[in-house]
Amino acid sequence: MKAEDVVERYSRVFPKAARVTYAPIVGIRAKNALVWDIEGREYIDFLSDAAVQNVGHNNERVVQAALEQTERLIHFTFIYGFPLEPLLLAEKLREISPIRDAKITFGMTGSDANDGAIKFARAYTKRRTILSYLRSYYGATYGAMSITGLDFEVRSIVGELSDVHYIPYPNCYRCPFGKDPKSCRMECVEYLKEKFEGEVYAEGVAALFAEPIQGDAGMVVPPANYFKRIKKILDDHGILLVVDEVQSGMGRTGRWFAIEHFGVTPDIITIAKPLGGGFPISAIIGKGDIMDALPPLGHTFTLSGNAVASRAALAVIKEIEEKELLKRAEKLGEHTKKRLEEMKQEHELIGDVRGLGLMLGLDLVKDRETKERAYNEAKKVVWRAYELGLIVAFLQGNVLRIQPPLTIEEELLDEGLDRLEQAISDVEEGRVPDSVLTNVHGW
Ligand SMILES: Cc1ncc(COP(=O)(O)O)c(C=O)c1O
Repeated sequence: MKAEDVVERYSRVFPKAARVTYAPIVGIRAKNALVWDIEGREYIDFLSDAAVQNVGHNNERVVQAALEQTERLIHFTFIYGFPLEPLLLAEKLREISPIRDAKITFGMTGSDANDGAIKFARAYTKRRTILSYLRSYYGATYGAMSITGLDFEVRSIVGELSDVHYIPYPNCYRCPFGKDPKSCRMECVEYLKEKFEGEVYAEGVAALFAEPIQGDAGMVVPPANYFKRIKKILDDHGILLVVDEVQSGMGRTGRWFAIEHFGVTPDIITIAKPLGGGFPISAIIGKGDIMDALPPLGHTFTLSGNAVASRAALAVIKEIEEKELLKRAEKLGEHTKKRLEEMKQEHELIGDVRGLGLMLGLDLVKDRETKERAYNEAKKVVWRAYELGLIVAFLQGNVLRIQPPLTIEEELLDEGLDRLEQAISDVEEGRVPDSVLTNVHGW
């Protein structure tokens, strides 16, 4: 079967709402950081299925745990009964979580975890208003979509939750206040206070939802003291801090949770993506009294607490512990960042290199002075990388997303970076034709 036939069949059965594609790769097999397609081509994976494969594709420990569990018990409802696997997972998550004596509940995907977090926060505080960030992404279910700060056309069509307000995310490369981080007064923090003076009644706010590093906004890392200052304001008004670690969690940045880099303890953490090593599972981890605020059946799903997904998640956590992947993410992250900084010296197209651990972004610009986003160039780089055997994607149209598995072999990481640099050179030197632009969609 040819890849193009599969692509054609896809277009017949899947609606455009379900997908956004970068390259026509029909993946049929994968191991750690390598993916093979239906035509036998091999790719180095810098995307990890959008930060899912932290312990590598088809990780042996995950495969064995899932196989063993599948043969014994696939599912025994966690709503009505007492299966062991979700219990063991919840106990383990409680152990690694920065929230003391947390209570935990499960779902299937990051979006449902964020929907649940809205409910728990509103129920506990008995307040309705949610604060969120511009350019944030929390998911596609109604609640998560409603607090997402990306300008989705869909919201204007289908409607959204009310009582949601937005503030700009601290972005020192593209400061929303036009300031220079060396001389600014952290207007991004001051803005929250102004919001409470003008537009939003602070004592009516249930929670601020924050990604500790804004992933889909293009790997935006806040200043080191940002969350401490914000948390103080939130505490003054009894507002909860909910951190979405769906993309940044489970070791990706060199800590179990990225918020640990910023010296604050949140009230609720949501996780998903890498938690199940590819199996659909999400979790909400919150302070016990917050998690006890909803009535029975206030947040349940028939398939949550699934035994196979829970065992897979336990295997992911064990793998991170035994292979010391937190340290490895930090070490490989520093190496990768150094190489990307070196590339920046050589290539005008690279405006900024940023990120923590192996959650890195390359902001491609048309002009380093104006920082105009290089949309077409990003598409061409992604396409050329695909031709060279590297899977990489972009966010916000121009920020290359560098998120390989934390288990990637060092030589393969360097080989992937070589291919990335080759792709950038090819684009800069006009060797990638405009005709490829229609092949790449992305967002
Ligand atoms: C930060 C963040 N939160 C939530 C989600 C939604 O997760 P899911 O697609 O698993 O529902 C995503 C997905 O990209 C994400 O990056």
